[in-house]
Amino acid sequence: MNLILLGAPGAGKGTQAEVISAKFNIPQISTGNILREAVKNGTECGIKAKSYMESGALVPDEVVIGILKDRIAEDDCNGGFILDGFPRTVPQAEALEAMGVNIDKVLSIDVEDAAIQARISGRRVCEKCGASYHIEYNPTKVEGICDKCGGNAVQRKDDAPETVVERLKTYHAQTAPLIDFYAEKGKLVRVKGQDGVAETSKLVMEALEA
Ligand code: AP5
Repeated sequence: MNLILLGAPGAGKGTQAEVISAKFNIPQISTGNILREAVKNGTECGIKAKSYMESGALVPDEVVIGILKDRIAEDDCNGGFILDGFPRTVPQAEALEAMGVNIDKVLSIDVEDAAIQARISGRRVCEKCGASYHIEYNPTKVEGICDKCGGNAVQRKDDAPETVVERLKTYHAQTAPLIDFYAEKGKLVRVKGQDGVAETSKLVMEALEA
């Protein structure tokens, strides 16, 4: 099964991708996590991406398309994958088609902009493995420590309120058109993000298994 998760920043794509990945035993591919790792390691790609990410803009299509193409060619993707944060523009979606990738479903997690700031302000992300938490809705067992790898769970740099405003603008201008793009292809399913991870997961599973 090849899936795409769409949704505004903080809508819960990464959180639900982890749940789906565990259930169907297919990898979660987060272009955001790959880019953050590249920035941390100071690679050529990371150096190119850093200023875009910190200002709430998208990294140029050609950079992200190259990353994605390499990642889905890896062996663990043979049985399917979940794309979390890609495509983010119509040209990225067209590039995916040009790679000959067949997408089974595109799941859009819909959350109002007004709820996004509250979600994002409570988010904590593991510096080491990228696992995502929320101080209220999905807390780590020990404050500030990742349950999975023991790394530090910290606030992301681009989660500052003024950057979130920019990321939402970017989402509506450049990514939201993909909802119609995939609806026209008969691939789109929509779920209303709930105030709770488990409640949302239940709707996500129903939508995927329908
Ligand atoms: P990326 O890392 O993809 O960020 P994003 O899309 O803005 O999404 P987020 O990671 O912020 O949110 P999410 O929807 O995964 O929510 P989460 O599950 O964490 O991208 C970062 C940057 O990289 C971009 O701005 C761009 O510059 C660049 N980039 C990445 N991909 C790119 C591409 N393809 N093209 C160009 N540039 C690209 O949940 C958020 C919080 O809410 C968490 O704390 C979580 O625990 C909590 N939560 C989740 N679900 C619920 C719920 N139901 N109820 C309550 N709390 C919840």
